[in-house]
Amino acid sequence: MRIDIVTLFPGMVEPALSDSIVGRARTRGIVDIRVHNLRDSAPGKHRVTDDTPFGGGGGMIMKPEPLAACIETLRAPGTRVILLDPAGRRFTQEVARDLSQRQHLVLVCGRYEGVDERVREHLVDEELSIGDYVLSGGEAAALVVSEAVTRLLPGVLGDEGAPARDSFSRGLLEHPQYTRPEVFRDCAVPDVLRSGDHARIERWKRVMSVWRTWQRRRDLLETADLSPEEQKWVAGFSQGRPPEDHLE
Ligand code: ADE
Repeated sequence: MRIDIVTLFPGMVEPALSDSIVGRARTRGIVDIRVHNLRDSAPGKHRVTDDTPFGGGGGMIMKPEPLAACIETLRAPGTRVILLDPAGRRFTQEVARDLSQRQHLVLVCGRYEGVDERVREHLVDEELSIGDYVLSGGEAAALVVSEAVTRLLPGVLGDEGAPARDSFSRGLLEHPQYTRPEVFRDCAVPDVLRSGDHARIERWKRVMSVWRTWQRRRDLLETADLSPEEQKWVAGFSQGRPPEDHLE
């Protein structure tokens, strides 16, 4: 897969893509991520990329010509051009899964008070927001999208089963996790996890995953992919039954 990131601040983006899982996926050639300075697509000695808004209102708006020049150079058949913007569709694990099936993404980072409307209308295929808060630009959002998508590419995570287990993959939060020591400040790791009984352990993990989702993100249960047994657990939680009631 190839991901092109278009930004006025390459220095905010490039270092974060050089380490850890994404950095390794790049060195191994699984994903080809390139960062482009939008200023290089702006004409003239001053390489101007923004201007004041028609109708007043203050702030600066990103001009359409540099964005058009840059996007049109990068676009090829099958390319998906995405503008990161707080007014976009919400980015979720499901959107990440969909994008991970594509060959080529161009992530355009908006800045200032926004981009000229004609960029949205004619140059991008989609707008994505990473949440209901306003950042100074789309750079952090482009990093979020790049990492969430890269993790899903075949061969990126050592353990091929890991993406399926992650929070949200079945629409549920993850069960609690423990490592050594067995007792930390008088709190012991649950006995079942040290029992060696794999069937009981798997059941505990499923019950706790549904329980945690019920406690913290009940909204997710409306669309989660639950078995009939898991649906019974949810009904039990709603009647005040604790997760321990479902472990055997
Ligand atoms: N640019 C500024 N805020 C943003 C957000 N929440 N999501 C995506 N891009 C943004």
